[in-house]
Amino acid sequence: MYRIAILQGDGIGKEVTKGAVNILQAIGDRFGHTFHFSYGLIGGEAIDREGTPLPEQTLHMCKQSDAVLLGAVGGPKWDNNPPHLRPEKGLLQIRKEMNLFANIRPVTFYASLAASSPLKPHVIEGADFVIVRELTGGLYFGKPSERRVEKGEEVVVDTLFYKRAEIERIITFAFMLAQKRKKKVTSVDKANVLESSRMWREVAEQVAKRFPDVQLEHMLVDNAAMQLVRSPKQFDVIVTENMFGDILSDEASMLTGSLGMLPSASLSVDGPALYEPIHGSAPDIAGKNKANPLATILSAAMMLRLSFGLTEEADVIERAVKQVLNAGYRTADIAQHGDFVLSTTEMVEKVKYAILDDVAIE
Ligand code: NAD
Ligand code: IPM
Ligand code: MN
Repeated sequence: MYRIAILQGDGIGKEVTKGAVNILQAIGDRFGHTFHFSYGLIGGEAIDREGTPLPEQTLHMCKQSDAVLLGAVGGPKWDNNPPHLRPEKGLLQIRKEMNLFANIRPVTFYASLAASSPLKPHVIEGADFVIVRELTGGLYFGKPSERRVEKGEEVVVDTLFYKRAEIERIITFAFMLAQKRKKKVTSVDKANVLESSRMWREVAEQVAKRFPDVQLEHMLVDNAAMQLVRSPKQFDVIVTENMFGDILSDEASMLTGSLGMLPSASLSVDGPALYEPIHGSAPDIAGKNKANPLATILSAAMMLRLSFGLTEEADVIERAVKQVLNAGYRTADIAQHGDFVLSTTEMVEKVKYAILDDVAIE
């Protein structure tokens, strides 16, 4: 039995996690696995019902589980709350508390979605890389992070803080991943300005010595943002600081056609991992059954592969997603003019049928 904690969160988080649970159930039925789902509050809804974005009970449940699947948190209702009562704080806390330092965001090109991307097909065809985002340090967690009054003037400070060991473990992780892929690491930083980036570069050079078969290159983050859309095929594994990784991964998602396509895994050293789409709660389409559930479904596939070692089952989900896209099924975000547009629940059903079909063919 696999115990999966489900944190639906806010907005479309609820809709997309429902879809992914549905798919996991189909996989469980088909392959004879028992997935036990337990539900916890996080984010805005947790603030409303429990007075905190990450109730103790939720954290406890996640730590006791074999893996966590999260939707998204946040929304306009809580945007003016004080920092400790913001939905996003709950997400940052759970990442920190569970020591989820390595966030893996694979960027996969789908041939059938070439026309959905704003980039030209010849630019994106065959692009296949992974962004490894440091997730428990950097600008998101530095102290102080506060407003204060200095000499009668209001000032504000956020701090970019890293311990050398934190940089070393994420870069080592990236090299280990590259060793299993195309053997190239692009370390992205802002070493021309930031001291933290200069140390990042130094550590990358040191780690690289232990991986002679992997090529290391350094790239400044502004250039990296440009290179991602100019020639994304040059990348294999990109490793970078928390906030740089956040921004670059939303940008990179458009290679696939939509933010709604990109899954992620957040891994710790030894505890359970957390899986979530990279997108947010999308308040503009929340509750309308319009959201693309594929990023969350693909996150569930990553869970099967990375946390449970269920490779074949993960392959089946990924193949089903490809088949559905090849067959021309589209949610609104990836639809082209004239395409028939499916709702979230319809898309989930299509993936489910494809899973059953796939098994039938075998
Ligand atoms: P967002 O990712 O929620 O949405 C950006 C745009 O992409 C919107 O137009 C949205 O409709 C679209 N989009 C996102 N996911 C989609 C999907 N699955 N299918 C179709 N379209 C999709 O980012 P935002 O609007 O900047 O932020 C909204 C809220 O979400 C904020 O409160 C933010 O803090 C939160 N957020 C949470 C997470 C998370 O929980 N991991 C991630 C990002 C943003
Ligand atoms: C993400 C989100 C979060 C982040 C926010 C909601 C805190 O944008 O998971 O990419 O910046 O990490
Ligand atoms: Mn983000």
